[in-house]
This record gives sequence, structure tokens and C-alpha cells, in this order.
Amino acid sequence: MTASISDETIMLFVIHDALRRDATHLARAVERRDLDDPERRVAFLRGWEIFKRQLQRHHEGQDRNLWPLIRTYLPARDEENAILNEMEAEHERIEPLMTAVDTALRTSNSDWLAESTVEFRQELLAHLEHEEREAVPLMESALTKQDWKAFARAQRKATGFKGAQEFFPYILEEADADRAARVRKTLSAPMRVLLGQIWEPRFARISRWG
Ligand SMILES: [Fe+2]
Repeated sequence: MTASISDETIMLFVIHDALRRDATHLARAVERRDLDDPERRVAFLRGWEIFKRQLQRHHEGQDRNLWPLIRTYLPARDEENAILNEMEAEHERIEPLMTAVDTALRTSNSDWLAESTVEFRQELLAHLEHEEREAVPLMESALTKQDWKAFARAQRKATGFKGAQEFFPYILEEADADRAARVRKTLSAPMRVLLGQIWEPRFARISRWG
């Protein structure tokens, strides 16, 4: 399966896998209903904050730098524009569902937390699958090598060196070995050393989800 994923979109698939992984961590932690335990709660909140940050950055990057780039090639092709419209609409629907989880957490309402988590997770998983099925073929057919380079540059700039210290360990944790190897290959040699020797061990020590 990995072989069918292009070099341009491998990062997207690895990010999506990481988001699915955390959606499962979130659901399991909420199902346990033990957030009254202060230690569990702190670890849960750490997991949730990192998950939210990475999801929001991923969506912001696509909304700002990817969909508009694809649109420049599709001024008159309604069907394909519709796919991009759906991607943007789904991103917009996910945002308030995330806020609902936050509010339920803040008010310590465990029934509401359970319900809002189910809704958020369903919407997110459906969106990731939809994006892989319909938006990935569209981006692959529309974008040139130069476009992909420009997108990667914009993403690197938005993430920054500090952001990279969380981003790469986040997406590589528990990643499929072949996919992870392909992502590591995109990094410079000094970055790979930093990642393996400092960033990943440090990230692994953060207790998340409880
Ligand atoms: Fe998306």
C-alpha cells in the first residue's frame, strides 16, 4: 500500500495516521471516565493540547497554502472545485466540535465529554478518509513539482525550528515503519540526528493521555 503513495503526499498520509492514532487515544481515555484523578487529568490534557495543536496546524497549512494553490489550476472545473469546497467545509465543521470537547472538559461534564468526543472523532475520521480518497488524487493531478516544493517551503516556514521539535516526533510516533522511513529520508542529515537523539526521546518522556 505504501508503494502507491507518492513522495509528495507521504507526509500527508503520515500526519493523518498520527491524527487517527490520537483520536483513538482520546476516545479510550474519555471512555475510562477517570479524569477525576488529578494525575490522569494532567496527562489527558497534555495529550489533548498536543493533538489539537497538530490538527489545527495541519488544517491551517492546507487552508492557507494548499487548497488556494490547487484552485489556481481549476477556475472552471466545478466538480473539482466542489471537492475543495467540501474540504474547507469539513475543516470548519471540525473546529467547533473540538471546542465542544474543550468546553465539556472545562466544565467536567463527563456525559457531554463522551458525546462531544464521539462527534468530533467521527467527523475527523470521515474527513481524513474523504481527503485521502478525493482530494489527494486532485492535488496529485493538479500540482507540479515546483508547486509541491513551494508548499513544502511554506509549511516549513510556518512550523519553524521550534515547531519541528514537536511535529516530527508527533507524526513519527507509532508510525508504520516504511512510511516513517520515507519521511525521515526527506530530512537533512543534521535534522535526522537531532530528531533521533534529542527530539524523539524528549517527546516520548512526555506523559500523555493518562
Ligand atoms: Fe484536512
